[in-house]
Amino acid sequence: MDQAKSVIITGATSGIGRELARIFVNHGYKTGGTGRRVERLEEMQNEFGDLFFYRQMDVTQFKQARTTLIELADEMGGMDIVVLNAGISNIQQSSAIETEQKGIDVNVSGFIQLANRSFDYFENRGSGQIVGISSIASMLGYGPSAPYNASKAFISNYMQGYRQKALRSDADIIITDIKPGFVESELTEGQKNMFWVASSKKAALQIFKAIVNRKHYAYITRRWRLIAWLIKMVPDRIIDRI
Ligand SMILES: NC(=O)c1ccc[n+]([C@@H]2O[C@H](COP(=O)([O-])OP(=O)(O)OC[C@H]3O[C@@H](n4cnc5c(N)ncnc54)[C@H](OP(=O)(O)O)[C@@H]3O)[C@@H](O)[C@H]2O)c1
Repeated sequence: MDQAKSVIITGATSGIGRELARIFVNHGYKTGGTGRRVERLEEMQNEFGDLFFYRQMDVTQFKQARTTLIELADEMGGMDIVVLNAGISNIQQSSAIETEQKGIDVNVSGFIQLANRSFDYFENRGSGQIVGISSIASMLGYGPSAPYNASKAFISNYMQGYRQKALRSDADIIITDIKPGFVESELTEGQKNMFWVASSKKAALQIFKAIVNRKHYAYITRRWRLIAWLIKMVPDRIIDRI
């Protein structure tokens, strides 16, 4: 394994991001973590040691988030992989439209700001890997979480476009779209009617393998590929009634 490799993970303060950071550190990667809850990042540095670097970041502070990403990369001596994992689902704001807008601000606008900045960074550097955490939810609209599913559809489609851009670039840039099913985390706390629920640790381990194997797509856990196939097969008029 190449000891010099380095990875930055957004939304590293809990759930999938935190477990993924732990795995990268355990494999000897310089690992950068970001999130708004700085006390958790400090806690992680105490636990993970010198291979872990961090910066407080709110992905909806667009300009600052872009600058912070590159400052962290510089502090780490460069960034080889970025995992754009920060995301929210249906966190209640003061009105329904504000709740929807907040989801788009974090999951879509925050995502594209950092994906676009990372692409430029890797083009200048000559190589790199952008990993986006979309979801199985990206594959269909769903009444109770319409903006969430739509936000994930957006980033999945965006990554496909960027993969095509990468193919036309002189740089060696890999775009990895990770599509988890249900994963136990703060995001799904209290959520009912879940099935095939994976722990954050198990999900992170499969995500790690997909990243190091430079996959373009990965379903997490792997059995969700079956659900993805079913969603593609079932006509929309039936999906709309389920
Ligand atoms: N859990 C699932 O079943 C599931 C399924 C499919 C896809 N996913 C996706 O996986 C990713 C990770 O989710 P998770 O399940 O691990 O949830 P989680 O435990 O709630 O983690 C979400 C992370 O995003 C960060 N975040 C939220 N808003 C942010 C903001 N404005 N700026 C910066 N960071 C922000 C949080 O950090 P701070 O609060 O400290 O900022 C936290 O570290 C998300 O993109 C989610 O949509 C999850």
